[in-house]
Amino acid sequence: MRLVLVGPPGAGKGTQAGMIAEKLNVPAIATGDIFRANVAGETELGLEAKRYMDAGDLVPDEVTNKMVADRLNEADAQEGFLLDGYPRNTGQAQFLDETLGSHGIDVALELRVPDEEVVRRLSGRRTSTVTGKVYHVEFNPPPEDEREHVKQRDDDHPEAIQNRLKVFHDQTAPILDYYSQQGKLQGVDAVGELDSVTKRIMKALKLD
Ligand code: AP5
Repeated sequence: MRLVLVGPPGAGKGTQAGMIAEKLNVPAIATGDIFRANVAGETELGLEAKRYMDAGDLVPDEVTNKMVADRLNEADAQEGFLLDGYPRNTGQAQFLDETLGSHGIDVALELRVPDEEVVRRLSGRRTSTVTGKVYHVEFNPPPEDEREHVKQRDDDHPEAIQNRLKVFHDQTAPILDYYSQQGKLQGVDAVGELDSVTKRIMKALKLD
C-alpha cells in the first residue's frame, strides 16, 4: 500500500501514522521528522530548512522533493510506504506521481480537524526528547518517567501556528481536489478520542 496522510498541522498525522504503518507493515516516512533530525544534527539541509520551519513556511520544493525521492529509493520503501506531511502542494503531488510511475499512490487519507481544534492541540503538544513520542498536556499527558524529557516544538508558538494553518489552506488543501479527481481520496473525521479516530481510520482503509 502506498498511502499519503494529509491534514492540517495538529490533525494527528504523527500520532496515528505509526499505528497505521505497523498494521500495513510499511515504513512511516515523515518529512517534518526528517527535517527536524537534520536541524538537530546541524547538517546543511537542516540549516537551510530551519528558517522556513521556524516561521511555519514550506521548505522549497527542490529541497523537499529530492529528499523524499532519495528516501523512497531505500529498500524498505519498495513494497509500500506511508508518507506523513508529503506532498504538501500540487507541485509535490505531481512530482510524487512522476517518481512512482503510472500507478501513483493508492490512497490519500485526509484527517479532518477544524482550525480552533488545531490551535488547542498544538499549544499543548509536547514531544519526548528520548523516545520521540508525541503527547498533549491535557488530552494525552506523558507518563511520569517521560515528564522531565518532554519539550515544546520550536514551531508551536502562536504566530507560526497561524501561518502553518494559512499555508495549509492556501497551498496544501488543493491537493485534496487533485487526489479526489484521481478517485483516491478518503476523508476521516479526526476529532474525538485518539482510539476512536484510529478506529475510523482503520475502517476507512478496510483494515478493521
Ligand atoms: P510537520 O512536522 O509535518 O508538521 P505539521 O504538518 O504542521 O504537522 P504536525 O506535526 O504539527 O501535526 P500532526 O498532524 O502530526 O499532529 P500530531 O500527531 O503531532 O512539518 C513541520 C514543518 O516542516 C513544516 O511547517 C514545513 O516547514 C516543513 N515541512 C514538512 N513537510 C514538508 C513538505 N512536504 N514540504 C515543505 N516543507 C515541509 O498531534 C498534534 C497534537 O494533538 C499532539 O499534542 C497530540 O497528542 C494531539 N492529538 C492528536 N490526536 C488527538 C485527538 N484525537 N484528540 C486530542 N488531541 C490529539
